[in-house]
Amino acid sequence: MLRALLLLGGLAPALPAGPHWAYEGPHGQQHWPEGHPACGGRAQSPIDIRRQRVQLDPSLPPVRPVGYQRPGTPAFTLANNGHTAVLVLPPSLRLQGLPGGFAAAQLHFHWGRPGHTGGAEHLLDGHRAPAEMHVVHFDAARYANASEAQHHAGGLAVLGILLEVGADPHPAYDNILSHLGSIRYAGQTTAIPSFSVQDLLPPRLDLFYRYNGSLTTPPCFQGVLWTLFQQPVRISLAQLEQLQGTLYATEADEPEPQPLVDNFRVPQELNQRPVLSSFPTGTEGYSTGEIVAIIFGTVAGCLGLFLTIHFVAKRTRARRAQDHDVVFKASSRRGPSDAGPRP
Ligand SMILES: *[C@@H]1O[C@H](CO)[C@@H](O)[C@H](O)[C@H]1NC(C)=O
Ligand SMILES: *[C@@H]1O[C@H](CO)[C@@H](O)[C@H](O)[C@H]1NC(C)=O
Repeated sequence: MLRALLLLGGLAPALPAGPHWAYEGPHGQQHWPEGHPACGGRAQSPIDIRRQRVQLDPSLPPVRPVGYQRPGTPAFTLANNGHTAVLVLPPSLRLQGLPGGFAAAQLHFHWGRPGHTGGAEHLLDGHRAPAEMHVVHFDAARYANASEAQHHAGGLAVLGILLEVGADPHPAYDNILSHLGSIRYAGQTTAIPSFSVQDLLPPRLDLFYRYNGSLTTPPCFQGVLWTLFQQPVRISLAQLEQLQGTLYATEADEPEPQPLVDNFRVPQELNQRPVLSSFPTGTEGYSTGEIVAIIFGTVAGCLGLFLTIHFVAKRTRARRAQDHDVVFKASSRRGPSDAGPRP
């Protein structure tokens, strides 16, 4: 039953019951590739986005959610799958502005532990936000559902939203967080009133990083098109603590309940993958023209400095020669050190 609720939520009962995995311990993330070979691939997620190495692509269109505000269903299913809290989304939620006809499948969270600040998966210049939400979509134009789409390059598109702590509670997040108490234990599900999923997103949907990566949990399938929004969403500290402190990774009847904490994967190697940004980050790498100009400017500058030193030294020597009343006929134009053999 638990397996049926793996990462693609209730939409994926056909997922193979893969080997058990965890974030720490004998089945921890460094062992994932043993049972899930894709986890050892070269295009894995998450990554640390180094803003200096991001490439500006102003042609990237803004992400446009369609049907997010009115999901057209009275209730959503919220589940604890032992790894995260998953909210199953209806495919009537569409995403435009991406190469494909993407429909929503589910959203879920990654977080740290009470009293610790870091819990997000994607890093920005090494900074780990307190939590991260992923909204998973599949290409409904090409595939029947997310479990089929996940096997194909470009079959899934995930929106990543970094959660930071602010002064005020975020009302849209309460639609989910206030129900976590009903799914404390792995395998539990509850129906919650539907709400505008758009309200969970940051205001600026035109500011994002884009790269090709993978699912951040086993089976770690690659070919996921990632969109990480530049703007974080701010929730209150009390809301973050609800996320960090309510759930268990174990089922209700287990004698030793394990808190569901620190469910984030370490950053993966970029391996030459481009990371695009829809907006100027202010730290763009230099263009070829700029590099040529910099090299040219540096060479010209060095030459100028060399000539200045050369002529200052020459004049100094000339002065000294006069002061000492030593007359070198030729040295008024050329210093003694220049008098070596000539080619
Ligand atoms: C997904 O689609 C495939 C292919 O049509 C089908 O065999 C499978 O049962 C579907 N899975 C779910 C969870 O609906
Ligand atoms: C992602 O991969 C697809 C298919 O290989 C490619 O067309 C696309 O340009 C890649 N996108 C990015 C952002 O690298």
